[in-house]
Amino acid sequence: MPNSGSPEAPPFEPYKVKVVEAIPFPSREERESALHRAGFNLFNLTSDEVVIDLLTDSGTSAMSDRQWAALMLGDETYAGSRNFRHFEETVREITGFPHIIPAHQGRAAENLLFSSLVKPGDVVPNNMHFDTTRSHVIHNGGQPVNVAIAEAYDAQREHPFKGNVDLARLQAYLDARVQAPVPLVMVTLTNNTGGGQPVSLENLRAVSALARHAGVPLYFDMCRWAENAYFIRLREPGCAQRSIAEIGRAMFDLADGATMSAKKDGLVNIGGFVAVRDGNLAAKLKEQLILFEGFPTYGGLARRDLEAMAVGLREAMELKYLTHRVGQVAYLAREIVAGGAPVFLPAGGHGVYLDVDRFLPHLAPDDLPGQALAIELYREGGVRTVEIGAIMFGDAPGSGPAPPELVRLAIPRRVYTASHLKYVADTVLAVWKRRAEIRGVRMTHRPERLPHFTARFEPK
Ligand code: F0G
Repeated sequence: MPNSGSPEAPPFEPYKVKVVEAIPFPSREERESALHRAGFNLFNLTSDEVVIDLLTDSGTSAMSDRQWAALMLGDETYAGSRNFRHFEETVREITGFPHIIPAHQGRAAENLLFSSLVKPGDVVPNNMHFDTTRSHVIHNGGQPVNVAIAEAYDAQREHPFKGNVDLARLQAYLDARVQAPVPLVMVTLTNNTGGGQPVSLENLRAVSALARHAGVPLYFDMCRWAENAYFIRLREPGCAQRSIAEIGRAMFDLADGATMSAKKDGLVNIGGFVAVRDGNLAAKLKEQLILFEGFPTYGGLARRDLEAMAVGLREAMELKYLTHRVGQVAYLAREIVAGGAPVFLPAGGHGVYLDVDRFLPHLAPDDLPGQALAIELYREGGVRTVEIGAIMFGDAPGSGPAPPELVRLAIPRRVYTASHLKYVADTVLAVWKRRAEIRGVRMTHRPERLPHFTARFEPK
């Protein structure tokens, strides 16, 4: 592929544009008034107020011509749609799990799995829970605990697989399961809460052996499994010649099932699933599915969405696509680091995470520095990002060390070009130059659950 030999060059987009969507350019005054109207919470901005939207990589992908064509094959049958069959075959082939239960997105899949497995008093270890995963464990009376390796908490420490599980900490929870039952172990691929970092195959093998020995099932949160497999191919000895599909199967063979938000590595705007080996559990999940989502051959989705997902899940495994995707993240990180601003290292799979403690060292934790920085990035250049830190995770006593304070610049798949990313880097560096003037914020409205979505703030 052009440029692939030069690490300095911006990554060459392996696609060309067929449909365009205009980018809004709100003025500085318009951005300022949008911030006030939004209560300084970037979730309250409208898309017309945002220049480059890096709030999330979830459901924001550009679909391919093949996916749009797949939508036209929608067979909108309530029961037994052929789109379901294509979707089911695809997920079975990728994961090897026999029972495939569609859901409208990741948290719906989590609701099905956790409400079936987790009881009050249970403990659920995960390298790091994402916010919805954590909330579903708590919602069912369980206690989520994070068991990532120590390196995962150190933004500047280089490690090829910073998403790995700390095996000794996991073993300690498994050993204590008589007092505090462990209904499942989960591993998040890649670790979104800790910089989008991958987990190695070697670590997954060890986790699987510990869980099996304890008789506890192992599940993956597989939202970004293809990006995780790409890092394994790049970094794990003996994997350089293996395809993403092969590496994926090596991963899934170690687990009992998975939940997926296909809004990430499924390259669709909506969709997800639970996939499991256990037939009895699958029957239970399907009963729940019918109650909350819909019949098992559509799971709360239009059947055409299942067809688009079947195509997207395969496209997400293409090396040309993944090389560009992960290359975009690395390029943006390089541009920011070259200007002197601190990012979480190494760059992850789906976004660049700013290292807030080093970006705004003059702010105290109760100044909510991550949110303050996200506000400034919007104010400066209309770039929308998200705080992944104290507000998203709040204080979680007993859940393991608090995740690091980060601002995530999530890159939507196949949406932005290298020149857009250069603009983002310039915006970050303009804020970096005036960092000493940045003040903290205080929360004026704190919702009880998932606070970052609906909280309101004001400048201090
Ligand atoms: N698990 C992980 C690791 C996630 O990153 C997400 C969503 C979910 C589960 C839930 O999936 O949104 O389809 O219900 N992450 C998005 C993000 C929202 O911005 O990182 P969902």
